[in-house]
Amino acid sequence: MSPKFYIKSYGCQMNELDTSQMGRLLKAEGYESALEPEAADVILINTCSVREKASQKVYSDVGRFRSLKLKNPDLVLGVTGCQAQAEGMHLQKRFPYLDLVLGPDHTGKIAALIRQAREKKSVTEVGFEKRQDYRFLNLLPDEEENHAKAFLTIMKGCDNFCSFCIVPFVRGREVCREADEIVREVQGLAERGVVEVTLLGQNVNSYGVGRHANDPGAVSFPRLLRRLSEETAIQRIRFTTSHPKDLSDELIEEFAGNSKLAQHFHLPVQSGSDTVLERMYREYTRDHYLDCLSRLRRACPQIALSTDIIVGFPGETEAEFQATMDLLEEVGYDSIYSFVYSPRPKTTAALYFKDDVPETTKKHRLSVLQALQDRITLRKNLEKTGQVLQVLVEGPSRQGETYCGRSSQNHAVHFPGEDADVGRILGIKIRHGGPNSLIGEKHG
Ligand code: SAH
Ligand code: SF4
Ligand code: F3S
Repeated sequence: MSPKFYIKSYGCQMNELDTSQMGRLLKAEGYESALEPEAADVILINTCSVREKASQKVYSDVGRFRSLKLKNPDLVLGVTGCQAQAEGMHLQKRFPYLDLVLGPDHTGKIAALIRQAREKKSVTEVGFEKRQDYRFLNLLPDEEENHAKAFLTIMKGCDNFCSFCIVPFVRGREVCREADEIVREVQGLAERGVVEVTLLGQNVNSYGVGRHANDPGAVSFPRLLRRLSEETAIQRIRFTTSHPKDLSDELIEEFAGNSKLAQHFHLPVQSGSDTVLERMYREYTRDHYLDCLSRLRRACPQIALSTDIIVGFPGETEAEFQATMDLLEEVGYDSIYSFVYSPRPKTTAALYFKDDVPETTKKHRLSVLQALQDRITLRKNLEKTGQVLQVLVEGPSRQGETYCGRSSQNHAVHFPGEDADVGRILGIKIRHGGPNSLIGEKHG
């Protein structure tokens, strides 16, 4: 019988991709995936440390999986990802029964490290590779995986050091992949039937800005998008995440002229107040940000916009919070992700700014903000009634009666369909807009 693995995954799309890459590597070693942790010979917790709540999950998971280890001493239990990077040896000390603690740069060696852990017990690998030595792990999906969508890392790390953010500490400095390699891999995905690719990086806008690992012929991010649309058979291209300070005119123009680009831009603003933005070290003003959005909308009138917001940042006054509320009204985002500020180890804000907004105020601000955005999202969704959206069909809806997919603008769309629709981009005429999704029917 083949050994089995179970991976519990937290965090962003980059972490999700690391999870599937580890799965692919283990399958290549003869492992099968287990549906339940109880059935597994190897359990990995791929962690996130971006907010305190996310980082706490590892402690409860480790405790829970320990009981399985007591029943089955041969079980290998490991913590991977950003929280493993952040805590390293401390995790191993706190939980001496952990077999593996691996930072995100070491997922490529997962199979060998599991073997090593079985022999000598306890492996901790949390160093960063030097920029010039860094190798990206990017395995294409298995032939039988036949997904319509795929994710591809184009860069790792972040050089920005926003004052609240732990990511640069746990993912290291920015390193970009070679453009030729990315083009080749996207073509490989298209040949396997992948219709849409999402390019991943902490700050894809700064792709190619003199930071290539081994690429003397570095290209800019908009140029990379152009190459992918001209030189590969991929039908739709998305990317995440972007930083407003690095948004170039060239990228905005790409939205006017590149028909393969999905009509969606996620541009995290974090706060609508200039004074808070300054304390966050974001290096742009509210006016600059709003100008970026209006230029994007001029280039592509159909474009959907989304953002990330933090409430309760150190020193955030009621007036500063109101500036964020006003920004939401003014922009009219299609959706937002919003969070309560939590201090993270090593960050400037945690070291030097007092976390002085009371917890109750933070929570209240979050719920007021989310209630406002719910109203805006519903309004935007209702406006879609009667429009025909280009939907990449992903499969049957969870409820089972309809099929669902994502529009170019990234709305979830449900419609009566059939298995043959899966993996195709169809025109869907919207009949109804709800709070979280759109309902429609095939058009033409
Ligand atoms: N690279 C992306 C964001 C990565 S983290 C970017 O630059 O936009 C994802 C989101 O988590 C951030 O946009 C921010 O809104 C939120 N976040 C990061 N650190 C946080 C903290 N300490 N407390 C609360 N939210 C945080
Ligand atoms: Fe964090 Fe800022 Fe880098 Fe985004 S750009 S990952 S928020 S430091
Ligand atoms: Fe979390 Fe690491 Fe992503 S901290 S948000 S999993 S880069």
